[in-house]
Formats: sequence, C-alpha cells, structure tokens
Amino acid sequence: MKRIAVLTSGGDAPGMNAAVRAVVRTGIARGAEIFGIRDGFAGLIAGEFFRLGPREVGGIIERGGTFLGTSRCEDLKTAMGQDVAVQRLRAGGIDGLIVIGGDGSQRGSHALAQRGVAVIGVASTIDNDVFGAEPSIGATTALDTALEAIDRLRVTASSHKRAFVVEVMGRNSGYLALMAGIAGGAEAILLPEEPADVEALAGEIRRCYARGKSHAIVVVAEGARYNAEGCARYFREHAERLGFELRVVKLGHVQRGGAPCAFDRLIATRLGDAASEQLLAGHNGRLLGFMQGAIAATPLASVVSAVKSFDAPLYRLAHTLAE
Ligand code: F6P
Repeated sequence: MKRIAVLTSGGDAPGMNAAVRAVVRTGIARGAEIFGIRDGFAGLIAGEFFRLGPREVGGIIERGGTFLGTSRCEDLKTAMGQDVAVQRLRAGGIDGLIVIGGDGSQRGSHALAQRGVAVIGVASTIDNDVFGAEPSIGATTALDTALEAIDRLRVTASSHKRAFVVEVMGRNSGYLALMAGIAGGAEAILLPEEPADVEALAGEIRRCYARGKSHAIVVVAEGARYNAEGCARYFREHAERLGFELRVVKLGHVQRGGAPCAFDRLIATRLGDAASEQLLAGHNGRLLGFMQGAIAATPLASVVSAVKSFDAPLYRLAHTLAE
C-alpha cells in the first residue's frame, strides 16, 4: 500500500481544509494510507506525521484556516533543512508528498523534488500569485471579504463626504487590489505592477469632488509603492490637495480568515482529488492549479521560474469605469 503525506504551508487560505479532506478521502478510496504533517515544512523537518482517516477530516470543509497548521519555514530554504526533510520522509516510509500552498511553498516543493522526493503541489494562496493557477484556492474568498469591507466603507464615506484609502493584501501581487477595486467601484486603484504618481492620485480624488461624487474609494495593494502608510503620510502633509477628508483602513489578515466560498471549496476538492490521483499514478514534480475551468498541471521548475503576467487591459478598464 502506498503512503502519502500532506501538508499546508505559508499563509493560510480559505479552502485549504477542503483540499486536505479531498486528498484524505480520495487517497484512501484509491487504496493509499494518508498521513498529515503538522505546521507545514517545519513539522516535516521535525517529523510530525500522523495518520489521517476519513473521520479526522469530517466537519472541516466549511472551515477557514488549516486544521493541520502552517508555518513559514526558513529552515527548508537551506540544504541542511532539505536533507532532514528528505530523511524524515524516508524514515516515515512516505512514498509521495502533497504540498498545499502558495508561491514560496512551491519553491520548497521544487527543492524537495530536485532531491528525489515525489511531490505534487496544489496552488493555494489568497495572493493568486502562483504561475499555473487562475485563481488559486482562497483568492476568491479573500476577494469577497475585501469587497464586503469596501462596500461598507463606501456607505460611511458617502455619508460624511470622505475619501477612504483601503489597503488589501497580496504581497507583490496586485490581483486582489485590482479585482476588489473593479468589483467595489473604486475611484482609483494603486498596484505594485503599475508605477503610481501620488500627485496624479490627489488630482483624481479632487476631480471626484468636482464631479459631484459624495465619496472617493482608493484601493491600494500592500505591495504598491504608495500603500496605506505611504498614502496616509503623503496626504497628511498635503491634505489641502484632496478636497475630501481622508481615512485610511488596512484590511490585513481579516482577508485570510472566514469560511471558504462555494467556488473555493469546489476547486479545493477537485484539486485535492487530482493530487492524490496523479501521485498514485506515478506523476510528480508538478503543480496542480485550477485554470480555465479545469485542472492544469505545470512543472514545478516552470512555476518557480516564471512570472505571472499582470492584466494591464483590466487595469485600464478600471480607470475608465471610475468616471
Ligand atoms: O501570502 C499571503 C499573505 O497574506 C500576503 O498577502 C501577506 O503579504 C503575507 O501573507 C502576510 O504574512 P504573515 O501572515 O506571515 O504576516
């Protein structure tokens, strides 16, 4: 009987539990033994394996976070850490590993694959920055969470005739900010991928006022040059340039919590199923992501070297729509 281990790694994302549940139940149905690893790669290096049966993953499909625990593991970036991880898998008699996580985690997967471990990655991060997934597990729920906050902020902004700068997560990716900005009807959006001119932004906000708008919502990505702090600092010093009183809100980790939406539960389930299927069929060294309505497999070597492209036309559309 084959023995498969599964871990979740990096920032938690809504839907990770659904993916683990699918790995466990479909893997067992295919005749494998499944082991969970606590706290991501840190738990792998510490040898924290435990057997998972169908009942251990009951009642988790609707839960955000990850019941396995997760970590950001600096040790796995070192040759020594990778050696220990490989030894732990061998000592545990593990034939294959499934890594559910984002961009940084899949770099760890690739490093282990290069050392001969049979690894399948599953793209899961709210940042949606993994090459080979569009969208990754968790990004859609995080977007809904950001959107709900933006809708609420617009209400109070309109009542007071204020401008709000709302910062959303995403590390170096502007995906969440762009999508939340468009869906939330933002007056302006600042992204890491587009150079921002804060003077031009001040002009745009002023023109909102001149056009008779009762509010201005500016969605900024945390990785943008002018994020919440950058905007707050600039506009504190140049308050007269705005025409609106300004408030700054940083959504932060609020976007990572919460129950996964239906879409994330469904893609997580399908990806977890595909991961156990492919590993047991002898495929490895690849990342599974949901792309264009289907499961796509991309070599881990490509995932770690390619840069995900930015949707520039969509950004221009956001600008037009802000009128
Ligand atoms: O990768 C997910 C993410 O939430 C990023 O958007 C953010 O930059 C980072 O994790 C925050 O990391 P931490 O939870 O370690 O503070």
